[in-house]
Amino acid sequence: MAQIFPVRRRCPFAPPPEYADLREQAPLVRAELPGGVVWLVTRHAEAQQVLSGKGISTSPATPGHPNHVLHPGGPTPEREAHMADMAAGHFIDLDPPEHTRFRKLLIPEFTVRRVRELRPGIQDIADRLIDDMLHKGPEADLVADFGLPLPSLVICRLLGVPYGDHEFFQSRTRTMLNALDDEQVRFTAASEIRNYLGALVTAAEKGPEDDLLGRIITSGRLTHDEIVGVIFLLLLAGHETTANMIPLAVLTLLRHPDQLAALRADPDGWPMAVEELLRHLSVVDWVAFDRVAIEDQEIGGQLVRRGEGIYVLGASANRDERAFERPDDFDARRGARNHVAFGYGVHQCLGQNLARAELEIALRTLFERLPGLRATVSDEEVPAKYDAAIFGLQALPVTW
Ligand code: HEM
Repeated sequence: MAQIFPVRRRCPFAPPPEYADLREQAPLVRAELPGGVVWLVTRHAEAQQVLSGKGISTSPATPGHPNHVLHPGGPTPEREAHMADMAAGHFIDLDPPEHTRFRKLLIPEFTVRRVRELRPGIQDIADRLIDDMLHKGPEADLVADFGLPLPSLVICRLLGVPYGDHEFFQSRTRTMLNALDDEQVRFTAASEIRNYLGALVTAAEKGPEDDLLGRIITSGRLTHDEIVGVIFLLLLAGHETTANMIPLAVLTLLRHPDQLAALRADPDGWPMAVEELLRHLSVVDWVAFDRVAIEDQEIGGQLVRRGEGIYVLGASANRDERAFERPDDFDARRGARNHVAFGYGVHQCLGQNLARAELEIALRTLFERLPGLRATVSDEEVPAKYDAAIFGLQALPVTW
């Protein structure tokens, strides 16, 4: 029985070493937490089975949902009240058919074609950020000066959120996602963002334009509170994940100079390299993969009963030797798109085409324009966010 969960990462480039032992033990391992017992899914095939959504719920309202086990003390009145405030439009926590209503409305906004139209804007943002770095250089913090502002500017532009307010919502987001902060402090930060976005949506409702927010409003298919929840989710999911990936990806590539040189020589290799970076780094691990069985079922030869909570260890599934050869190696030419870095099934990342475009443009442009780019701290000194829900670096000092 695995007693220690969550297990912290100790290295920026690898999941906790305990995952390999758990994977070896069984596809499903029982973990005893202070508030009860959950199943940890350790292998790739079973991860896909659970995430496909059949007989599985993701809703924290479903009895047995693992978040209540992770946060012992049960659903306190404060927790219940906060969840109710935050629930409208937060479709990542909804099951079909409710979930499908949101997905259908939003999918056209994130298709490959729509994202292709956004590429010149993303390129422009990347170039401007690098211009600023060159102007202030020859030193920079790749998190604050590039990794964070790039996806943040992209999603703000897409949602019509004034980027001038980024310090406000980024500081609140950081608090909200910091697993170490007091629960009440995290709840207050989330409420502040929601209130801020509420005012923004109210203003847009008075004269909706032909942009993402305007189209959602004029569709007439969502209530005001649901629209606020959708924008909140997109803002959060749209910058926190890619922002963590960019600096970590840069550091990974710098540690593999031969592969980086090959990418510089043949930029067509970037899309494939991005897939491998997503698999290898797995910045979203179990935290998004909280599920509960809604019927008795067999998963990986194990009977899982209705009402039992499940966490899929995404970072373990992405290193499963049954799905990937030499899974711990970083191989920019691997060409494996079956990773679960964007999840799988009904909740698979809505913004994945956008994320791919951002990563590809950010990395290619950075290495093209700063050929001498290197970190000024050793791998051991790099400050990493070992306590955050989404993994990444706190800072990455570089020069060129
Ligand atoms: C490298 C960047 C990204 C990574 C690694 C990532 C990862 C993920 C993962 C693992 C999920 C599935 C969660 C689950 O199964 O419950 C997810 C869902 C989601 N992501 Fe992303 N994401 C990224 C970028 C983005 C961007 C740029 C956007 C938005 C514009 C976005 C919007 C969403 C939304 C809305 C969902 C919920 C989908 C649903 O429940 O139907 N993500 N993401």
